[in-house]
Amino acid sequence: MKPRVFSGVQPSGDLHIGNYLGALKNWVRMQSGYECIYCIVDLHAITLYQDPAELRAKIEEVAALFLAVGIDPAVSSIIVQSSVPAHAELAWMLTCVTPVGWLQRMTQFKAKAASQDTVGDGLLQYPVLMAADILLYQAHIVPVGEDQSQHLELTRDIAQRFNALYGDTFVMPETKLPEVGARVMGLDDPETKMSKSAPGVGHGVALLDPPDAIRKKIMRATTDSNPAVDFETMGPGVRNLINIFQAFTDWPDEQIRAHFSGLGYGQAKKQVAEMVIESLRPIQQRHREIVDEPGYLPGVLKQGAERVSPIANETVELVKKRMGLYSRS
Ligand code: TRP
Repeated sequence: MKPRVFSGVQPSGDLHIGNYLGALKNWVRMQSGYECIYCIVDLHAITLYQDPAELRAKIEEVAALFLAVGIDPAVSSIIVQSSVPAHAELAWMLTCVTPVGWLQRMTQFKAKAASQDTVGDGLLQYPVLMAADILLYQAHIVPVGEDQSQHLELTRDIAQRFNALYGDTFVMPETKLPEVGARVMGLDDPETKMSKSAPGVGHGVALLDPPDAIRKKIMRATTDSNPAVDFETMGPGVRNLINIFQAFTDWPDEQIRAHFSGLGYGQAKKQVAEMVIESLRPIQQRHREIVDEPGYLPGVLKQGAERVSPIANETVELVKKRMGLYSRS
């Protein structure tokens, strides 16, 4: 049996080239060696208020983008978290073995809580639900960004504590961080990672941005005061742009150097913009086809939920039995 991979994306904000180069592109590659489950985590999204109509639309947009970038529903399962009730069920059971201090220490909890007037309990429980997502499928490998490392460590701590209290039940999941170079920074601020939730139109290139918008954003990206590309002295802005170009093309370093060395910034940016536009064109085209085909997307999501439910239900039954809860089997 192939090792199992699980990962998730929140259906909030616009998926951007940083999500694609740092995560989705790799998810597509992993399909050949692993049994993959890719999840749209809508229950995580509502830990901060979401407009219902927007959330509903975003879930489908993200699902269509998963397909458009090359996740193959015949091979991998694409699921919406809330359509598999076992996620919420297991989350409750795991909540009961998780010390509240572990959750209060999470840096993302502290950051998000600091920006809210009232802090919903869901925000504190967020990492427990994430642990449930992963442990529910006994996933071996979880590809995530560096910012999720702490949540993965917590997942292992929860699994270990459960196993110690109730007997060996959960597989210990491994974190798989993206390769260096797959880290895309903000165009307006190359010191921070490109983020779905960052404000400002000049920050990220969304996967569904039209060519004009992409051109405009890249031409306005922050650079430095050098007159032309110099690999020895370039600042983080130029480095980020060239890094984006390289991540899309997969060209080796020498070819990238030969191509960009000495190029004026205007020219270099134009090169990057056109490469991004051309790389996104087939994804956008495929996205349009998926959205235009009535019934296709709901069918994919239904198939995904049906395929993973037996695995999820088996874990929930096992956990119930281990804890002494009333279980049918
Ligand atoms: N917290 C993750 C993020 O914001 C999303 C997520 C939820 C996730 N459940 C998961 C990622 C399980 C990996 C595995 O990026």
